Amino acid sequence: MKTRICGTGSLLPEQTVTNDDLSKIMDTSDEWIKTRTGIRARHLATKETLTGLAVEASKQAMDEAGILPEQIDMILAATLSADNIFPSLSCELQRELGAVNATAFDINAACSGFLFALHTADAYIKTGRYKTILVVGGEILSKMLDWNDRSTCVLFGDGAGAVIVKADEECGILGISQGSDGALGEALLCENRQINNPFASNPVELSYTKMNGQAVYKFAVRTVPKTIHEALKEAGLTVEDIQLFVLHQANIRIIESVAKRLKVPMDKFPTNLQDCGNISAGSVPILLDEINRKGMLHKGDKIVLAGFGGGLTWGAAVLSW
Ligand code: ACO
Repeated sequence: MKTRICGTGSLLPEQTVTNDDLSKIMDTSDEWIKTRTGIRARHLATKETLTGLAVEASKQAMDEAGILPEQIDMILAATLSADNIFPSLSCELQRELGAVNATAFDINAACSGFLFALHTADAYIKTGRYKTILVVGGEILSKMLDWNDRSTCVLFGDGAGAVIVKADEECGILGISQGSDGALGEALLCENRQINNPFASNPVELSYTKMNGQAVYKFAVRTVPKTIHEALKEAGLTVEDIQLFVLHQANIRIIESVAKRLKVPMDKFPTNLQDCGNISAGSVPILLDEINRKGMLHKGDKIVLAGFGGGLTWGAAVLSW
């Protein structure tokens, strides 16, 4: 029995912010951002909520899969920027969608979150206990960025993507790999609220996303090819068998370096980071939906999904579409 993606959906906030727009409010330039990252623009939430974006993405995925809300028996949402600390994004989604038969919880594995959620869905499907799972990845990271820190705030964007997965005899996940290294966690960090109670109080300071860009870069280019090879090995396939590699959209130079290390031409790596920036847990499902809607995925195609990010965490999945 395999876990098959039967429908995809996504939504980005309405407001587009170009590199030139940013250069009007901070000391940066289109040239600096484009040459170092490939990013030209990103969508930032100005009036949207993450729940609202995820609801629309989920409805699209349900439509394509031909699924009614009450048929969903699990909702897994990957995010680190839900509208509330609780209720979780997945519980908010359950309410908004009327998915009354679902059990729902969130997964935080930063930018690898969607891969971790997909892996979790795969494990639950394989037990036979759950049959139809909504897997969502989305972020409104812009609220967690220090807009005075030009080295991080130019990199990220907001948005949500969703897939419906179901058990299938023929197509679906063929191989999967994931891992974590908490010892390297400080390379990408955003602290939660500090201890604050009548017996122990700290100055109430909000923390924003901090990143050691070069450490993350080195980690990504070493780890992503390795995790892809592990997932391929489990699938009994090689890179030559793969039609498309859908990678986390952090930086074009990371994707180029992964392509080179895998010895695969760049035209097998669709990208949308140019117009979306890095949407953390949202980037893989949003790009997957984009290429699905463009008709770039055909039944039986072998594709790789891969992510990496805070934790540090990483993961890859090999699927037949
Ligand atoms: N505009 C203009 N100048 C800038 C900007 C900016 N937005 N940001 C930094 N600079 C300056 C720095 O101040 C520094 O100036 P200095 O030399 O006078 O001190 C100079 O540019 C070089 O800064 P570096 O940080 O060394 O730049 P680098 O070439 O390493 O590029 C980058 C930074 C793009 C973040 C790179 O390290 C990278 O690609 N890292 C990969 C990590 C990544 O993509 N993370 C995304 C999020 S994490 C994730 O998704 C898992």
